[in-house]
Amino acid sequence: MSVVLTVQCAKCSREFGDRLAIAVCPECNGALAVVPASPPARGQALKQLFDSRVTAHSLRATAYEASGVWRFRELVLPGAEADVVSFPEGNTPLVASDAVARYAGVAALRLKHEGLNPTGSFKDRGMTVAITQARRVKATAVACASTGNTSASLAAYASRAGIPSLVLVPHGKVAPGKLAQTIAYGARVLLVRGDFDDCMRLVREASAKLGVYLANSLNPFRIEGQKTIIFEMLQQCAWNAPDWIAVPAGNLGNTSAFGKALVEAREFGLIDRLPRLISVQAAGAAPFAAAFDEGFVRRHRVKAETIASAIRIGDPASWDRAVAAIRETDGVVLAVGDDAILAAKRSIDAAGVGCEPASAASVAGVRELVARGIVDSSHRVVAVLTGHLLKDPMPQETGRGVGGPDPIDISPDLSEIERVIGSLGDGTLPTVPTVS
Ligand code: F0G
Repeated sequence: MSVVLTVQCAKCSREFGDRLAIAVCPECNGALAVVPASPPARGQALKQLFDSRVTAHSLRATAYEASGVWRFRELVLPGAEADVVSFPEGNTPLVASDAVARYAGVAALRLKHEGLNPTGSFKDRGMTVAITQARRVKATAVACASTGNTSASLAAYASRAGIPSLVLVPHGKVAPGKLAQTIAYGARVLLVRGDFDDCMRLVREASAKLGVYLANSLNPFRIEGQKTIIFEMLQQCAWNAPDWIAVPAGNLGNTSAFGKALVEAREFGLIDRLPRLISVQAAGAAPFAAAFDEGFVRRHRVKAETIASAIRIGDPASWDRAVAAIRETDGVVLAVGDDAILAAKRSIDAAGVGCEPASAASVAGVRELVARGIVDSSHRVVAVLTGHLLKDPMPQETGRGVGGPDPIDISPDLSEIERVIGSLGDGTLPTVPTVS
C-alpha cells in the first residue's frame, strides 16, 4: 500500500497531496512542509524496526567497519585495526546510465564512480592503507609526487594520522581545486618547475636519501587498497564478473592493482573467470599503449601532453606490474585523443553522472574498442570513473566552454527568465498546476 503524504502550507494552512508539482503554496506562496505519515509502529517497536536495518555499513559503524576498503581487510592488510586511518572510504556506486551506454555502444555499461570517495578520487582507497602502514612503521613524514589527486588524498589522510606530509607537483599544471584541497588539508606543497615525471624522480630520491615514507602507488600498500575497487565492484555484480573492466591509465598504479585483484579474486574463489582489462591512456601521454602495440618488447618514455592533466605522465612508475596485469587478464591497452576524452566527458556529465577529464578516458576507450570490433555491443562492461567532476571543472569562471549549455547573462527581470524558459525543451511554458 503506498502511503500518500500530505503537504501543508505553514502560512495559510491549506493542505495538498504529495504530487503537487510546485514547491511553494500555490494559494499564497507560503512555505510548505510535509505532514508526517503515521508510522507502522511506535516506541521500542519502531526502534527495533530501524535497528533491524543496521548493518556493518550503517551510520553507527566505526570507519573501519564501514569502509569499502577495510571490508576486504583479509585481502588488504589483515591485523592493522589498531592503526587504521580511515574516513571511511569506498562504498562507491556502480551507476547504470542508458545514455552513456548508448554513447559507448554497449548495451550493458556501468560506471564505477570512484570520484565519490571522501577527497573526490580513487586515491583514498590506496591512501587509507598507505597511511595506516605509515603509522605502523612509525613514519615521521610522508611524501608523494602528484598530478593533484594523490596529493589531495595524501594530505587528508596524513593530517588525520597526525603525520606531516610533503607533496611535489608540477608548477602550473595541477587543477586549482586539487591544489586547494592539498594545501587546505595541511600538506607542505612544493611547486616543481618541471613535469610530473620530474616530480616522481625527485620524490623517489628524497624518500631514499631523506627517509621520508613514499606514498605514491609504487608503495605496495597503495596497490592493496586500490584492489578493493575491483573487489567491491565484483561484490556489486553479485560476484558475476563482467566481460571487460576499463580504467584510465597514467602512472599505472590502478592497472597494476586491478590485475592483482582479479588474479587473487579467482585464486580465492570469488570469481571463476577473469574479466579482460582495458587500460586507456591519453594519446599525448601514451607510452604504455605504444609498448602494448609492440608486444611489450621494450619500455617507452614520452614527453607527456594532454588536456587530462591527471594522466599527463610520460614515464609511468608501475610499468612492470602493469604489463603483468595486462598479460594475465588478456587485456588491451589503447590511446584516445583529447577530443574523444572530452566528448566522452560531455556524455557522462550530461547524463548527470559527471567526472573529471582523465576519468572519461575509460568510456572513450570502450567506445573506441567497440568501433574496432574488439568489444562487442552485447558484452558486459564496467568503466571506472576515477575522479569527481569538481576536481577539474571549468576553463573559466563564467562557466562557458565546459561542455554543457553555456550560462546566459540576464538582468534581474522576470521577463528574461520567461524568454529563456520559452526556449527550453519544446518551447512551451509550464503551466502552474491547479489545486486539487
Ligand atoms: N584518473 C585520475 C583522476 C587520476 O588522478 C589518475 C592518477 C589516474 C586516473 C591514473 O591512475 O596513475 O593509477 O594509472 N593520478 C595521479 C595523481 C598520478 O598524482 O593524482 P594511475
